[in-house]
Amino acid sequence: MNLKEMQQLASDVVKKAEDKIKNADELKTLNDIRVEFTGKKGEFTKLMKNMSLLDKQDKPEMGKILNSSRQKIEQLLSAKIEEIKNNKIKKQIIEETIDVTANKNKHKIGHLNLINETMAELENLFRTMGFDIVEGPEIDTVKNSFDDLNSPKNHPARDLTDTFYINEEIVLRPHTSPVQIRTMKKGILPIRMVSAGRTFRNDEVDNTHSPMFHQMEGLVVDEGVSMANLKETIDLFIKKIFGDEMKTRYRPHHFPFTEPSLEVDVTCPVCKGKGCESCNNTGWSMELLGGGMVHPKVLENCGIDSEKYTGFAFGMGVDRIAMVKHGIDDIRLLYDNDMRFLEQF
Ligand code: DAH
Repeated sequence: MNLKEMQQLASDVVKKAEDKIKNADELKTLNDIRVEFTGKKGEFTKLMKNMSLLDKQDKPEMGKILNSSRQKIEQLLSAKIEEIKNNKIKKQIIEETIDVTANKNKHKIGHLNLINETMAELENLFRTMGFDIVEGPEIDTVKNSFDDLNSPKNHPARDLTDTFYINEEIVLRPHTSPVQIRTMKKGILPIRMVSAGRTFRNDEVDNTHSPMFHQMEGLVVDEGVSMANLKETIDLFIKKIFGDEMKTRYRPHHFPFTEPSLEVDVTCPVCKGKGCESCNNTGWSMELLGGGMVHPKVLENCGIDSEKYTGFAFGMGVDRIAMVKHGIDDIRLLYDNDMRFLEQF
């Protein structure tokens, strides 16, 4: 056997090892390959044995070739071992990844209570109609809540049995109307605002009364504002909230802070106006809001020239709006924490 033939044999062995290593995908297989080629009884040992058949001067050359071939196989083996180990780790990382966002016992995310939802709906609607949203405090002065609203000292609303007094001058606001006074006193005209929030009265709890309830107040003050503007605004808002089939009925009324004053009823939502038990066969629902033209005295109390400016105002029960809209017959359901009820909205 000459050098050339030996070289050929060595490169065949390397080639064979290369192929096997390339196709191996397990550490165990690679170990078998190592034994098969570089082990004691492996292919290289066999090749070494052939060295004795070579001419003496060719032996060192052949020795180098065998060494480098063997090294090459060892390098290929270690590279492949490294690759298989890395792949194994990557696979493990993917398989054992903990999805920290997955939680079977997720807390339920709730939603706004129907009252807040209704207030937000009303505010959004009035915002699209060009009204500003104004905040007012739940505790206000007697002056803002009554005096400047032209409510006389002997008005029943001022009675201890009707209003919660903090002291002689401060009350839990019995309506949202003091926000009108606060806005007008700022003196920025024209005014087009609504303000919603909690209100308080010394009422016994029953299916339509609660000592804490919600109102939304509206006020427009400008030159040339008339009752027609009030009616148009209220008709539009009722249709937007309840639907086009909802009719309105205006009844004369008395409020100290408006002149003339009116109350508004809407079609009974239960019988759609035909007359039923819940509307006492009138076809109209319980009164939803009061309103009127702002009393000149109220304008003057707030430093507004009542010869130049006129205004309209209205106040509505948010709880009642929600009740009519959703056919709820007991106001207490809105404040109880019965999830079976609350989850429906
Ligand atoms: N404040 C009245 C109430 O609580 C509702 C009301 C009526 C507000 C007429 C107004 C209004 O602004 O003009 O019953």
